[in-house]
Amino acid sequence: LHATVTVDPAFVVGPVRPRTFGSFVEHLGRCVYTGIHDPAHPTADADGFRGDVVDLVRELGVTTVRYPGGNFVSAYRWEDGIGPVADRPRRLDLAWHSTEPNWVGLDEFLRWAEKTGVEPMMAVNLGTRGVQEALDLLEYCNVPGGTHFSDLRRANGREEPYRIKLWCLGNEMDGPWQTGHKTAHEYGRLAAETARAMRQVDPTIELVACGSSGRGMATFGAWENTVLTEAYDQVDLVSAHAYYWPVDGDTASFLASAVDMDRFIDDVVATADAVRAAGKHDKRIAVSFDEWNVWYMGTGGEDSEATAPKAVDDEWPVAPRLLEDVYDVADAVVVGNLLISLLRHTDRVHAASQAQLVNVIAPIMTEPGGRAWKQTIFHPFALTARHAAGSVLRVAVDAPATTTTKYGDVPLVDATVTHDAATGEVVVFAVNRSLDEPLALDVALRGFAGLRVVEAVTLSNPDHTWSATADDATSVLPRTNDSAAVADGRATATLPPVSWTMLRLG
Ligand code: AHR
Repeated sequence: LHATVTVDPAFVVGPVRPRTFGSFVEHLGRCVYTGIHDPAHPTADADGFRGDVVDLVRELGVTTVRYPGGNFVSAYRWEDGIGPVADRPRRLDLAWHSTEPNWVGLDEFLRWAEKTGVEPMMAVNLGTRGVQEALDLLEYCNVPGGTHFSDLRRANGREEPYRIKLWCLGNEMDGPWQTGHKTAHEYGRLAAETARAMRQVDPTIELVACGSSGRGMATFGAWENTVLTEAYDQVDLVSAHAYYWPVDGDTASFLASAVDMDRFIDDVVATADAVRAAGKHDKRIAVSFDEWNVWYMGTGGEDSEATAPKAVDDEWPVAPRLLEDVYDVADAVVVGNLLISLLRHTDRVHAASQAQLVNVIAPIMTEPGGRAWKQTIFHPFALTARHAAGSVLRVAVDAPATTTTKYGDVPLVDATVTHDAATGEVVVFAVNRSLDEPLALDVALRGFAGLRVVEAVTLSNPDHTWSATADDATSVLPRTNDSAAVADGRATATLPPVSWTMLRLG
């Protein structure tokens, strides 16, 4: 099998945006407690944050981190998480049927973000709360001083305002599982009024309205239309959330999950632009794909209450083991392909967050008080975040097709290419979705001269169900692809079945 990818530096989609490589920390399961935070760990700092996890987050190349939820935020009182830890209340967390001890709150998280070098993306509660509480939180975070909440921040030890730029106006308000779930009209009005008031406090913030929590939601499309019709002038981005998993062992469809992400983004952009036209607006709304990943949700389907708590008894544990998915090589190929889709849409996707960062559907796993290790999905994320630079180029892919149950005919190869004019580096990111056949990749480098292979790595394994564990996280890693070469203006490489490849040319 043979596939051709053609690129030309004149055909640019848009810049590679650092915010494409965002992640997500929710008070859910062990993401915070025993994930990023574990005072008993030998590497813990004065706040109790694990140094080994900070190092891994840096290596992952994460740029923004969404916080504190997720479904959790929709009944969260942010004031519970400030001031002396010993005085903080314990609360029921309805979203995950857990107890929230509030050992970590706003100031601790923001100190962790500064230490880790990531930009916080803060979510406000528009489930059980509204405009006033969002204003209070923004005042605490961004106002220099001289007012109740800004002085409270200073009294709590943080003199300078945090000046958080990126704010989510609630979470998945279209989902019937969401505490305080709303109709599109109810939410659109609330989002518009919250945004309008928040901008009076700080006109420099960027605001994300909730879009749909899945393309399969019954209200998908209509939801975006109504919400943006209400809030177009007040918001900058609309969110999209998508999780993928192999349904009934259909790996061929699963490997083509990026086809769904492409359609999702195209549909949201089309809807936003239709609202723009109808409302005679000038600006364009961007997409914040602020939850995406592989998640073995089961067979409930996207419109089910798969994300609702399963426990209904009197047990409300602190930091239970929830959603601790173990990822294999095929999952990593899908994650690499989803990043290809996000980059390909860099003209309209201005932010994205892989959900989530540690332990909960995550690239990083930890043992309480013990080891931390990388899951397979860590690698394509880290390499793409590190090496995608400059501009994303438009690519023409000519590849054989395969027929999938879920998406019909899809190309066996998907690819994107970045070009950094400053360094001259061209990077090809490509996947082979075939379950059993290698593919000869041929990249026609039009308008480029003198390129050579700087680095070529491929993630694959004869057994694509291999997963990392605490004891063996390294026997399958992206390895040098010795087949890579450049000659006569063409880069070539063999892509093994079920594989993700990065070719750096310079
Ligand atoms: O990321 C896990 C959950 O998935 C989030 O809390 C929610 O927003 C989504 O349904």
